[in-house]
Amino acid sequence: MEFIIRNFVITFRCMNHNKITELLGIRYPLIQAGMIWCSGYKLASAVCNAGGLGIIGSGSMYPEVLEEHVLKCQKATNKPFAVNLPMIYPDLEKHVELILKYKVPIVFTSAGNPKTWTSILKSEGIKVVHVVSSLKFALKAQDAGVDAVVAEGFEAGGHNGIDETTTLTLIPIIKKEIQIPLIAAGGIATGRGMLAAMVLGADGVQVGSRFVASEESSAHQNFKNTVINTEDGGTHLTLKELTPVRLIKNDFYKKVQEAYSKDASVDELKILLGRGRAKKGMFEGDLVEGELEIGQIAALIREIKPAGKIVEEIMSEYHQAIKSLEMNQYKFE
Ligand SMILES: Cc1cc2nc3c(=O)[nH]c(=O)nc-3n(C[C@H](O)[C@H](O)[C@H](O)COP(=O)(O)O)c2cc1C
Repeated sequence: MEFIIRNFVITFRCMNHNKITELLGIRYPLIQAGMIWCSGYKLASAVCNAGGLGIIGSGSMYPEVLEEHVLKCQKATNKPFAVNLPMIYPDLEKHVELILKYKVPIVFTSAGNPKTWTSILKSEGIKVVHVVSSLKFALKAQDAGVDAVVAEGFEAGGHNGIDETTTLTLIPIIKKEIQIPLIAAGGIATGRGMLAAMVLGADGVQVGSRFVASEESSAHQNFKNTVINTEDGGTHLTLKELTPVRLIKNDFYKKVQEAYSKDASVDELKILLGRGRAKKGMFEGDLVEGELEIGQIAALIREIKPAGKIVEEIMSEYHQAIKSLEMNQYKFE
């Protein structure tokens, strides 16, 4: 047992040669998730400047808005940053054109088939990472030639897989079967959470909810305040017939549940959801009628802080947690 702990500590101390930091050219294998309405250039550049990878969430941006954010991000940091491309986005081709035009070095694709764009992006020298929620999709992404996958568990905020596989389960299952680097997402907000994911086999972590509650996030202040007051059990993965999404249990969520209790059809659910709910809730701060997407780990997030401080705290706790492995805390006969 002691031998295993010693080797483990040595491995994690030598983190300078981590697969994700090398692949993406960053200091820490800590990635701020692309998040609609929450992750513009201010958040992305703050995370990059603190040593992580910041991602601009293009899923809520018109092409001209994305262009502005990419240009501002390039001014705000000289570090690599990424753009998240949810592939269900209607103007996807225009977004790709901008990414190529401005030589964005890294793209995180999600919500779609990685085959469509991976080879085009890679032929331009762009690193491509794809988000998955199951082993089947991880293998498909690897076959499509992506450089790494993000495996996102059931705990995560935002749109999610239908199978409800938790991060704790998903990471070792995928790790066992794929050869490319693996990034864990869902339920990670602290250094201890990060270390746990790395022990399970992740090469890096993607953190979403914790960065929603950052000063630089473009989320409305009302939404940020709600996030830091969300208790455990305060979110639920719902609307599975449309696109599964984890929501805070506000009035809009209650309307959805009421519709379910009356056996609402898919069309009725679509009408109830309507258009622009996510913007209304997360960007405009309508806590009653808006859609409020956040992960289960919100129950651990109690303060809004600068993004750079969040990176610093996660990394310092991560190293502290490794040190505690050397003490007797985890040893028993
Ligand atoms: C408010 C919010 C918006 C999100 N939007 C997106 C998105 O546009 N594209 C995407 O791939 N994932 C999106 N996600 C998922 C995150 O990228 C990330 O994988 C997830 O937040 C990780 O789990 P955590 O919230 O427990 O940290 C979103 C998550 C949140 C909380």
